[in-house]
Amino acid sequence: MAWFHSLLLLALGISRCSASIIGDVADLNKLDLTFDFIVVGGGTAGNVVAKRLAENFGYNVLVLEAGGTNANVLGLEVPFMCPTASLPNTPHDWNFTTTPQAGLSGRSMDYPRGLGLGGSSSTAKFIPGARRKILTDQNELFDVQTSDHHNITGQFNPAVHGFNGINTVSLAGFPSPIDDRVIETTTELAEFPFNLDMNSGSPLGLGWGQRTVKNGSRSSSATSYLAPQFVGSPNLHVLLNARVTRVLQTATGAFRTVEFVQNGKTLTFTAKNEVVLSAGSVGTPNILLHSGIGDSSTLTSLGIEPLHNLPSVGQNLTDHPLVFLPFLVNSNNTFETAERNATLSAQQLAQWNTTRTGPLVDNPLSHIGFFRVSGLVDQFPDPAAGPNTAHFEFFVSNGLSGAPPATGNFMTLTCVVVAPAARGSVALSSNNVLAAPNINPNFLGTDVDLFMMREAIKSALRFASAPAWAGYVISPVGVDFDSTDAELNTFILANTGTIFHAAGTASMSPKGATWGVVDPDLLVKGLTGLRIVDTSVVPFIPSAHTQAATYAIAERAADLIKAVWGQ
Ligand SMILES: Cc1cc2nc3c(=O)[nH]c(=O)nc-3n(C[C@H](O)[C@H](O)[C@H](O)COP(=O)(O)OP(=O)(O)OC[C@H]3O[C@@H](n4cnc5c(N)ncnc54)[C@H](O)[C@@H]3O)c2cc1C
Ligand SMILES: *[C@@H]1O[C@H](CO)[C@@H](O)[C@H](O)[C@H]1NC(C)=O
Ligand SMILES: *[C@@H]1O[C@H](CO)[C@@H](O)[C@H](O)[C@H]1NC(C)=O
Ligand SMILES: *[C@@H]1O[C@H](CO)[C@@H](O)[C@H](O)[C@H]1NC(C)=O
Ligand SMILES: *[C@@H]1O[C@H](CO)[C@@H](O)[C@H](O)[C@H]1NC(C)=O
Ligand SMILES: *[C@@H]1O[C@H](CO)[C@@H](O)[C@H](O)[C@H]1NC(C)=O
Ligand SMILES: *[C@@H]1O[C@H](CO)[C@@H](O)[C@H](O)[C@H]1NC(C)=O
Ligand SMILES: *[C@@H]1O[C@H](CO)[C@@H](O)[C@H](O)[C@H]1NC(C)=O
Repeated sequence: MAWFHSLLLLALGISRCSASIIGDVADLNKLDLTFDFIVVGGGTAGNVVAKRLAENFGYNVLVLEAGGTNANVLGLEVPFMCPTASLPNTPHDWNFTTTPQAGLSGRSMDYPRGLGLGGSSSTAKFIPGARRKILTDQNELFDVQTSDHHNITGQFNPAVHGFNGINTVSLAGFPSPIDDRVIETTTELAEFPFNLDMNSGSPLGLGWGQRTVKNGSRSSSATSYLAPQFVGSPNLHVLLNARVTRVLQTATGAFRTVEFVQNGKTLTFTAKNEVVLSAGSVGTPNILLHSGIGDSSTLTSLGIEPLHNLPSVGQNLTDHPLVFLPFLVNSNNTFETAERNATLSAQQLAQWNTTRTGPLVDNPLSHIGFFRVSGLVDQFPDPAAGPNTAHFEFFVSNGLSGAPPATGNFMTLTCVVVAPAARGSVALSSNNVLAAPNINPNFLGTDVDLFMMREAIKSALRFASAPAWAGYVISPVGVDFDSTDAELNTFILANTGTIFHAAGTASMSPKGATWGVVDPDLLVKGLTGLRIVDTSVVPFIPSAHTQAATYAIAERAADLIKAVWGQ
């Protein structure tokens, strides 16, 4: 079969290397294929599932991705440009905004989600906090050869990494001028112990940032799992610009047909075996609800025919709130220096472009730490998963996030609540399948979440007061070292944003549970032919960044699917 498809592709004049990524359904239809599996969303999880299923040459696999290609998009390749890729209203963003946030005095905010091959992994920058065994030899290729070839002994623990996998993780490839002060702080203040590797034992403490970067370029699910040698396989097809609107019932209780829009035309494909929804924590519940899978009475009130009552669809949205805490510093060597000097930034880009070296090989953070709030459990039930699980993190950047003001040099400690108690939702705004849903992450919607953010900021202020920063840190910006709780609250409410870790909107729950959306095998409860594989199935958000967990879920899901349908 494989050689036959290859011949067919050649006959169509499509080169084998690019044959499988197709922009127009007309080209796909020429192949006259039936698909065993249809994966909705060519994002982080979707590309893993597609690649793994296509390893079996007996399966024909189709990926439908709403966006375009990730290839040759500078903002998605250059690691330092990841804040640009996170900006709203770019061609690689879904351009969502949240509903007014009750915990933030009614403020709404942009809510970026990756659009296009690689999905949010094309816009994500680093991958810390994954526990041992989540990343394995199966998918992690730890890159010991950093761009600057520095000695990485003492910056990570090789025993908890894989070195043969697909997706690349590495350490910084260009030194940051504040590295020494950060490490010195871990020896000066007991509150901030050095952690050699957050992936081993306890995630608590502060250490060197690990990132999904390969040879100075971003490593996403598109550049790794869909690398040319894999996507060139004749039974793996990726259709771009194909926006899925609904899954349709093919027989009672079976949903194997996918409806999508391309170039204004509504089309369908039906999978022989399964449809795998990997449209992410916003996209997946949105598609389910439009398909009549959700809370039946709510769907009826929106004019959508309810086909399967599952009230948890879209509920329990959980995300990590973030606040950038900038400090004015006594230095000429921060991100601002190049950002204000077009000649210098052009030189840096040219260096990256020709040799994959220089400051742009790194994402804008040097170190990251995960911590617990001491005394929290005396006042609140512990919102974290266990006694060694973090309540908050902060990461260190040698400059501001975003466009710099006219003068001043900065450092940022970005504070994130990683064990939020608040739960929000993704709900439909109307029965128009192309309308954006109402997204409510419910940021700081509980007292304990605001408490943790306030304590995170106080902790970051103590960090910047360590002797290591004497003569370097001038002052925090927006707060003072001795701000009152009320002043900190005002700052937090005005400055809270998202770190983009939405999870939980199509939660896994035990078989037979009265809540939840998928069973432990990730099949939609009570249905056949429809599985969900993405961050939406995570029932309890990890106190870590979510990319690694998503890769792990997808690898596991591919094994489960292969076990059902035979190798
Ligand atoms: C800007 C940004 C920065 C981040 N930074 C980090 C980080 O530094 N570290 C970290 O660990 N995590 C980070 N994350 C979070 C992490 O990337 C996500 O949790 C994870 O990658 C999500 O994977 P997913 O497969 O669930 O969804 P996604 O990767 O978002 O994939 C969903 C895919 O489905 C497509 N899709 C959606 N709806 C449809 C539809 N109707 N039809 C067809 N296709 C559709 C989307 O276009 C997308 O390609 C970041 C996320 C974002 C958005
Ligand atoms: C988001 O906005 C950008 C810029 O206007 C656009 O290119 C992109 O297609 C938009 N995304 C969606 C899903 O419409
Ligand atoms: C790297 O550093 C470690 C410890 O600092 C040292 O033992 C080792 O010899 C160094 N390796 C090289 C190649 O310099
Ligand atoms: C939300 O998740 C909790 C478990 O964390 C569960 O008990 C509850 O039923 C869920 N709510 C909905 C609406 O699914
Ligand atoms: C910044 O640069 C100026 C001019 O080159 C120099 O005089 C000054 O000492 C520098 N300041 C620091 C903190 O390096
Ligand atoms: C800008 O950068 C260039 C190249 O490094 C340097 O020669 C020049 O002096 C810088 N300009 C200013 C105003 O610092
Ligand atoms: C990178 O180099 C290539 C080939 O030398 C050139 O075509 C391209 O314009 C360069 N890109 C940037 C951003 O400098
Ligand atoms: C890394 O990228 C550079 C610049 O494109 C290239 O010359 C080099 O061969 C690459 N190294 C590896 C190991 O791929």
